[in-house]
Amino acid sequence: VNGTGCVQQVLTLIKEVEIMSQIPESANKGLENIVACTTEVSSIQDTTLLYRGYTIEDLAAHAGFEEVIWLLWKGELPTEHELGGFRAELLKHTTLTHPMIEALTRISATSAHPMAKLRTAISHYGLLQSDSELTAPENMLEQAIRLTGAFGSIVATLSRLSRGLPLVEVKANTLAEHFLHACLGQKPSLEQTKLFDTALVLHADHELNASAFTARVVSSTQADYISAVVGAIASLKGPLHGGANEQVMLMLKQIGSLGNVAAFIEDAIQMKKKVMGIGHRVYKNGDPRARLLRELSRSVCQKAGLQDFHLMLSTIESEMESKKGLMPNVDFYSGLVYTALGLQPSDFTPIFAMSRVAGWSAQVFEQIKNNRIYRPRGYYTGPLGKEVRAKEKRIA
Ligand SMILES: CC(C)(COP(=O)(O)OP(=O)(O)OC[C@H]1O[C@@H](n2cnc3c(N)ncnc32)[C@H](O)[C@@H]1OP(=O)(O)O)[C@@H](O)C(=O)NCCC(=O)NCCS
Repeated sequence: VNGTGCVQQVLTLIKEVEIMSQIPESANKGLENIVACTTEVSSIQDTTLLYRGYTIEDLAAHAGFEEVIWLLWKGELPTEHELGGFRAELLKHTTLTHPMIEALTRISATSAHPMAKLRTAISHYGLLQSDSELTAPENMLEQAIRLTGAFGSIVATLSRLSRGLPLVEVKANTLAEHFLHACLGQKPSLEQTKLFDTALVLHADHELNASAFTARVVSSTQADYISAVVGAIASLKGPLHGGANEQVMLMLKQIGSLGNVAAFIEDAIQMKKKVMGIGHRVYKNGDPRARLLRELSRSVCQKAGLQDFHLMLSTIESEMESKKGLMPNVDFYSGLVYTALGLQPSDFTPIFAMSRVAGWSAQVFEQIKNNRIYRPRGYYTGPLGKEVRAKEKRIA
């Protein structure tokens, strides 16, 4: 190395040491409190969740899922005329092509996890789109409209085929109605549709959660839209993220009855086991979506004869709050709402994805508008200065 090269190397090394010495090993674990980007899509302000400046309570009471998708993608709520056209466009894509249904038939014949099936299905859906490698904003918007329209049909088709049930032909006025009819095989009531639609609104976006971040990281490399969504689905699958809603119902079945709750919680605390649907990285004073879902689930559980489950959940909630200071998150009561609607636990996380595709898309659009590839650093704690030994001299 010549003199200038040597100085350059030393300067680079000094810079690296400077960066690394500022980062204590534990400070960034899980990127807690790290701001990784600016965003105008959604925001958590203490116990309030905002989509584009509107509170989730206001949207849940006054807007439907399609309006919220438009809001997240375009920044403002649609006019009546805009909504009519947008809804019709989304609903057009609920009809799946024959090659897609064939693929879903093969995928659903496996014994894979429902989210593994969904991940594969959406990836396969991308293979069938002739424009899936086009990454200009207008192409991505077009792709997002098609996928968001088709998403619920894909989830419902996988669900029915996996349960050995025939597919049903559906005509519906909203994505919520379409999904319930396609998945349950019968037309839902207005009340059921409204409840499910509200659940979709509540799950549509959530700032820089793990799957939204995944979607942004993938699209920051200038990869295509479907790749970003498939990455996000993989991220949502885990029980620490979207997979918790299914786990809550399994936990209730495992506990069995109200009388067993206290012992179950005691054991979980002693053994340091996570209680599913409890706790949150950002909300320390309660998740507003859990509050809304608690109320929504109360009346629907009464009608569906699921009061015991509701009582078990509210008892777990108060036990966890008094003993650990932890509160429920969105996944705690959502599964009960879906159960009361007649849906299967194996469909809960795919349903989460069916709604969250709206947010992932908005996050991807925002990312590509002002892109820089995500490339953080790792704080190295391994050994230095090792030398390669000849194979015969290596010690096992
Ligand atoms: C959401 C979650 C992943 C956030 O994780 P996090 O911010 O990294 O929080 P930690 O896992 O570091 O937990 C902090 C403390 O609270 C405890 N805690 C957090 N969530 C808990 C839970 N669900 N049950 C029991 N204890 C929990 C941890 O054991 C830890 O306690 P300690 O300090 O005594 O060791 C976590 O609360 C969790 O795993 N919840 C259950 C899964 C779930 O519901 N996921 C859906 C999220 S929307």
